Amino acid sequence: MFKIAVCVSGGGTNLQAIIDGVRQGVIPNTEIVRVISNNQNAYALERARLAGIDAVCISPRSYESRELFNEALLAAVDEAAPDLIVLAGFLVVLPPAMIRKYEHRIINIHPSLIPAFCGTGYYGLKVHEAALARGVKVTGATVHFVDEGTDTGPIIMQKAVAVRQGDTPELLQRRVMEEAEWIILPASIALMAEGRISVEDGQAKITDGER
Ligand code: GAR
Repeated sequence: MFKIAVCVSGGGTNLQAIIDGVRQGVIPNTEIVRVISNNQNAYALERARLAGIDAVCISPRSYESRELFNEALLAAVDEAAPDLIVLAGFLVVLPPAMIRKYEHRIINIHPSLIPAFCGTGYYGLKVHEAALARGVKVTGATVHFVDEGTDTGPIIMQKAVAVRQGDTPELLQRRVMEEAEWIILPASIALMAEGRISVEDGQAKITDGER
């Protein structure tokens, strides 16, 4: 079994897409061994519990310093011994020690076509507000490996989504989730589970499968 830990901060619709993908076999031979949230009110935690998945909250508020929080977060991940860590709307800057320890074993979903509308300050609805303010006609989502920069790691998969006249940030966010995020995140995890992604010269390569 390929073991994944999923880190979340909010509603957890991407987590739900992963749970459903595992159940329906879109993500083969995979078990979600733990869901970790920095926010105890995240509905994502409830989704995990409803699916019978071990769910823990590691909140920065419970620790005296960032260092202690970082250590606790890494310990919660290590304890689950995952093959892959999936950031599914996790709005926390990862401890550098975690990024080094799990090199090419942490992936993130970002709600734009990187390198547009990404980096520090671009998360959640802010990404869609920026896309609408710039007037782009196409946006989308990206799954990428996590490195020590913000949204700078090797790109695994992207999917474009049309912007429509009259879109609000909320409408655009929902369309990007439905048409891109909930598809490419499970698909990327499936490729990882099948051992079909490698990183060469800083770029993610997908090798052909038997299917
Ligand atoms: C998703 O749109 C995800 O792409 C975004 O947060 C949302 C979480 O929604 N992530 C980022 O902006 C990371 N920079 P969810 O909790 O319903 O999956």
